[in-house]
This record gives sequence, C-alpha cells and structure tokens, in this order.
Amino acid sequence: MFLFKKIRLKHLLTAFSKSMDYVDKALSNHHLRVACIANDIADAFDLPRQDRVNIFLASVLHDIGVFSLKEKLELVNYELKNPHAHAEKGYILIRDFKMFCDISNIIRYHHVPWDYGKGRFFDEVEVPIGAHVIHLADRIEILINKDQEILSQRDAITKAINSRKNSLFIPEMVEAFIDLASKECFWFDASAPEIDQTIELKGIMSDAEIDIHELVEISKLYSHVIDFRSSFTALHSAGVSAVSSLLAQLVGFSSIECQMMSVAGYLHDIGKLSVPTELLEKQGKLTENEFNIMKHHVYQSYRILASVKNMETINSWASFHHERIDGSGYPFHLRGKDLPIGARIVAVADVFTAITEDRPYRKGMTEEQSLRLLQELAAQNALDSDIVSIAISYIGELNDIRNALQTKANNDYSSIKLSNVC
Ligand SMILES: [Fe+2]
Ligand SMILES: [Fe+2]
Ligand SMILES: [Fe+2]
Repeated sequence: MFLFKKIRLKHLLTAFSKSMDYVDKALSNHHLRVACIANDIADAFDLPRQDRVNIFLASVLHDIGVFSLKEKLELVNYELKNPHAHAEKGYILIRDFKMFCDISNIIRYHHVPWDYGKGRFFDEVEVPIGAHVIHLADRIEILINKDQEILSQRDAITKAINSRKNSLFIPEMVEAFIDLASKECFWFDASAPEIDQTIELKGIMSDAEIDIHELVEISKLYSHVIDFRSSFTALHSAGVSAVSSLLAQLVGFSSIECQMMSVAGYLHDIGKLSVPTELLEKQGKLTENEFNIMKHHVYQSYRILASVKNMETINSWASFHHERIDGSGYPFHLRGKDLPIGARIVAVADVFTAITEDRPYRKGMTEEQSLRLLQELAAQNALDSDIVSIAISYIGELNDIRNALQTKANNDYSSIKLSNVC
C-alpha cells in the first residue's frame, strides 16, 4: 500500500520551472530569476498581495510555450522580432486548467510593449498589470551576464531599461526599478546561485498544498511541455500515463495509487527537457556521445522529482523506467527486488508505447511485432514477465485507453501548432 501525501504547489512549480531552463547554461534559472525580480518590482510598485501571488505563478511558467532550444536562445536578445508566438502558445497550453485561469492572460501578454499607453490593451483585451511587470523583469534578467560580477553591470542594465521607458515599459514601473537598482541586495538576490532559497525566504508563495486530482492535472499540463517539443514525442507521455495506470489497476493497485501511477507516466521523461530538441528529432542512429546525452534524461528526471517533497514514491516509479531487472538498464543499474513494482510497470508501459510510435529513424511496430518484442524482453529478464503477461492478455484494452488519451493530447498539440501568431 502506497500512501499519497499532499504536495506543496510551490515545490512542484519551482522544480518544473528549473527543469525548463536546464537545456542551456545561458538560461539557467531564468524563470526563477524573473519571478524574484518581478516580485521585487511588484512590491516596489505596491501591488496588492493577490496580484503578487499571480505574478509569481505566471513568472515561473511564463515561457512555457517555448519548445525548441533555437526559440529559447532567440529570447535572450534584448530586442525581439516576434515575441508573441511563444506567449500565445503558453496561453493555449494553460487556459483550460482551472488552477491557472487567473494567470493565463498574464502569460499571453507578457511581451506586450507599453507603447506610450497603447499597451493597456492588446487585440482589445485589457492587458493585466502583471504582464507588464513580467515583461520588465524578463528583460532585466536577460541583460544580466551570469559570468560577470553583478554590480559592475548595474549601470549598463539600468541605462538599457531606461532607454525604453514608455516605449516598452510603463514609466512609473521603470522609476520603481531604478529605485530598486540603487540597492545592492536587489542585484544579489537576482543573481543568487541558490535562487530557490532566496524566493523561499521572500515568502512570495503560500504553503498551499495540492491533492492527487490537482497533481494529475498539473502533471498532464506539464507532460505537454515535455512532449510537444517534437512531433515524434508529442503524445508519448500521455500514452505511458494511460498504459501505466491501467496496468497498475490490473495488478491490483488502489484508485489513488493508479492516479499516482498516472502522474509517474506523465512525468517519467521530465528530464528530456535537458536534451536539445535537435537530438530528439535526429534522423538516423545516435552517436555514442549523443546517446550519452540522451541517457542523462532519466537521471535528470530523478533529480528534478527528488526536489519535490512527498514525491518520493512517484519518483521511484517514474525515474527508473530505463532500469532493467537483470541490471542492464541505466543510470542506476538497479536490479531484481531493488526495482519497485511501480517502476516495472512504467518500464513495460514505456517500451510498449515507444515501440508502437514512429521515430525519426524508424516506423512504429505493429501490435503483433510489439507483443513479440515484449515477450523477448521478459524472457531475457529485462522486463517483469508477470506484468508483460498481463499487458499481453489485455492488449486490446491497453491500446484503447492509450488511443483515447493520445487523441486528447493530439487535439491539444494541433491547437498549439495551428496558433501561428506573428
Ligand atoms: Fe517570454
Ligand atoms: Fe522569459
Ligand atoms: Fe525515457
């Protein structure tokens, strides 16, 4: 019997936002730094507590609609040619999640220029003040050179921001920033290596806890961030989640345990956010070096989920999905009894889902071919033979539930792809 203990929303979002910035050193902790700077500006601007909470939430997710490394690196330029596409995609991703309805427009409009007051509205919709705060904080953050001593950059950054007062940013907000910029602590906070502790100390977010239903919902949302970076993986985590939770039910897991399993399926590849999209889409076999980078993803999944208190069980199911019972898996080389049953289930679900999907270098297998491969892997003692037997007995049901969830994920993916904003 596995117990579910409630999880603090701030711990989960902190871990998620860090994982979005793993892919390149230049972006390291971008979301958390923006959250820290935006909070200071909102505070100096005297915004009400609820606005500040929303600004924090929106900050840690603001670039959720950026999928490729190329797109991410373009955002590091101070002047942006087409900043709204990723903001619109981010909005589409989160707009249907009840928990985030108050911040969806902040994310949607976080690059709207002030334009001498015209930026109060965008497409006739009122732009929330939080969007302008995040816009300013985001531009300050990208001007910080992480390899250079921070106070020596203060004047140049202040000058660059001030030069776009009224055209890009609200003049009074720039004044508030200039006031903040005179305090060394503002810069030390914004560049602190232990930025999550700095944020914790500022007490921006409450200790609100989420239950298992909310955790499933947020994990589903985040699985899109993980998967939508490539059309080849766009539906993968939705499939693994569906298959894992049904297998868990067939093995005798309780309803709550099956929902925990669904979360493990949605998040098992969270560490893939550290793998460049270009590698996920590579045609042909990976080189040894590229495969090493790919192998790193499960280690990253483990580290990201380990930073969230009370996620231990789910982590042990999610992050050991490339371990094998005979010890031939990676990266921990767990074997036999050391591999929890939940991890064995996700491993079968992952293989089953992956081999039937198309990849850049091969077509997906037919049902018959995939059954044969699962049997072979069970015979080699790589996958759990009992779980493989169950999977084979219920192959029709597993395929149905997987198709149902993947169809829903595909609808979401299509609406993101169709949102070509210029
Ligand atoms: Fe952005
Ligand atoms: Fe950003
Ligand atoms: Fe994986």
